[in-house]
Amino acid sequence: MTASADHLKALLSAHASGDDDRFYGIALQVAAKSARQGHTRFAKELRELIDASRAEKISRPASPTPVVQPRGELASLLTADYPETRLADMTLAESARGALEKVLHEQRQRGRLERFGFTPVHRLLLSGPPGTGKSMTASALARELGLPLFTIRLDGLISRFMGETASKLRLVFDAAAQTRAVYLFDEFDALGADRSAGHDVGEARRILNSFLLFLDQAPAESMVVAATNHGRLLDSALFRRFDLAVVYEPPSRDQALEVLSRRLAAMDTSTVIWEDLAALTEQLSHAELVKAAEAAAKQAILGGSDTIGAGQLSDALNERRRLRHA
Ligand SMILES: Nc1ncnc2c1ncn2[C@@H]1O[C@H](COP(=O)(O)OP(=O)(O)OP(=O)(O)O)[C@@H](O)[C@H]1O
Ligand SMILES: [Mg+2]
Repeated sequence: MTASADHLKALLSAHASGDDDRFYGIALQVAAKSARQGHTRFAKELRELIDASRAEKISRPASPTPVVQPRGELASLLTADYPETRLADMTLAESARGALEKVLHEQRQRGRLERFGFTPVHRLLLSGPPGTGKSMTASALARELGLPLFTIRLDGLISRFMGETASKLRLVFDAAAQTRAVYLFDEFDALGADRSAGHDVGEARRILNSFLLFLDQAPAESMVVAATNHGRLLDSALFRRFDLAVVYEPPSRDQALEVLSRRLAAMDTSTVIWEDLAALTEQLSHAELVKAAEAAAKQAILGGSDTIGAGQLSDALNERRRLRHA
């Protein structure tokens, strides 16, 4: 016996948490130990198996979930995606990143929690200004968990179905109980905040109440993520109905520069003096910074260069600022 009981336990726990790197790392340790003990043939076979299995994993699509497409009426209520965004690709405040990593950890270990009668965090409220990464977060959660992302735009749902909205919501929540996925209810404030926009207030209340009822009963099978721009306007009773609320903020100067440099990772930015750009990033959201970086990169590429000149980036940032104040 060349794999110790500890190795086996570690292998199982790495497998359960979906941590491939750790899984293969432990398997390689077993191979190394076997080689040291003189079982060279076994060690060699194990290494070959690990290599083959790794190669196969890479060539397979990242998501192990079979492609699920909503059918029938459901198809008109939500859109399905298999996002590629990783959480590590996002620039986030430490508090938000910590909260999201905890969510992923609980979701990955849900079997362990459920055996003791606990459920992982599965009802999430994301609030913050436009372009700070709320929708992107839902994509990243889906990608990290290998799940499809189903997006429901509440503003569209309400204006399309009016009095029938609550029964449409029931359909979506029924699907959430059956098909494990991340369900993003985007523009969530369409339900809560907009009391002054001339909508039928009584109707909006009724829809909100049905949503909350469904949310209370939502099984831990799927994740329900609601995103809103108007965290302050939603009443605090509403926040409590979610397991966790994550607040998104405009980027700090350092975060702004990180967003720019990450988006320009494929380019040569050695001539850019980042500190000089910091003031120009003020008041721009993550999304606007990404757009400015893309504009500068495209200009450089089409001009025949892979080098971003400092002038190009500051021009693009100024242009974004102009658009914002237009
Ligand atoms: N925190 C972030 N880190 C890196 N890129 C970001 C971040 N936030 C936004 N972006 C970029 O901006 C784009 C739009 O962001 P996203 O749609 O997630 O914003 P949002 O918060 O949902 O905005 P809205 O309130 O308008 O719906 C993303 O696709 C990404 O390119
Ligand atoms: Mg969004």
